[in-house]
Amino acid sequence: MVKKNACIFISGTGTNLKSIIRNSRDYNFPINVNLVISNKRNATGICFAKKFSIPHLILDVNKKKFEIIARKELHKRKINLICLAGFMSILSKNFIRNFNGQIINIHPSLLPKYKGLNTFKRVLDAKEKITGCTVHFVDEKLDNGRAILKKRVWVKKNDNAKKLKQKVQTEEYKAYSEAIRKVYNFS
Ligand code: GRF
Repeated sequence: MVKKNACIFISGTGTNLKSIIRNSRDYNFPINVNLVISNKRNATGICFAKKFSIPHLILDVNKKKFEIIARKELHKRKINLICLAGFMSILSKNFIRNFNGQIINIHPSLLPKYKGLNTFKRVLDAKEKITGCTVHFVDEKLDNGRAILKKRVWVKKNDNAKKLKQKVQTEEYKAYSEAIRKVYNFS
């Protein structure tokens, strides 16, 4: 099997990155992680790229420069898939068009509900009984593209934002890799 080349964009702790890298080590997983790009100098998730000897770039520059350099690197490394994993910047329309259908994201809610930030607090304030996460294609609108896969989590009475985040993130680690398999029609 010829694996596709993937790049993961991060800004923070990179726990989704870690789980994608782990799964990508499986011979039957459809992608290799060939590159990790962080737009934040202090993103601790970079340690996972280092640990697994994956090339990484820290592009803590303005969006325009970020996209020029990233685009060059992505083309050079023949990247087929960009996975946004806690990437806290909105890519330009131009960039998204350039990688049409090749960028996916994970969001900690059952989209289209709770787009944007502070999802856990908003879910709790609204007294939702169920929440979860969504892996979706990225289009030009925020947290909007076609959903690939969703995972649900029960919200318990005594959950706080921290507890809920833990529960949702546990599902995220499974969801992201399942979604990547789904994108390439792997069972
Ligand atoms: C995840 O909860 C993801 O849904 C959101 O940002 C968080 C990233 O966490 N987009 P990590 O950097 O993967 O640890």
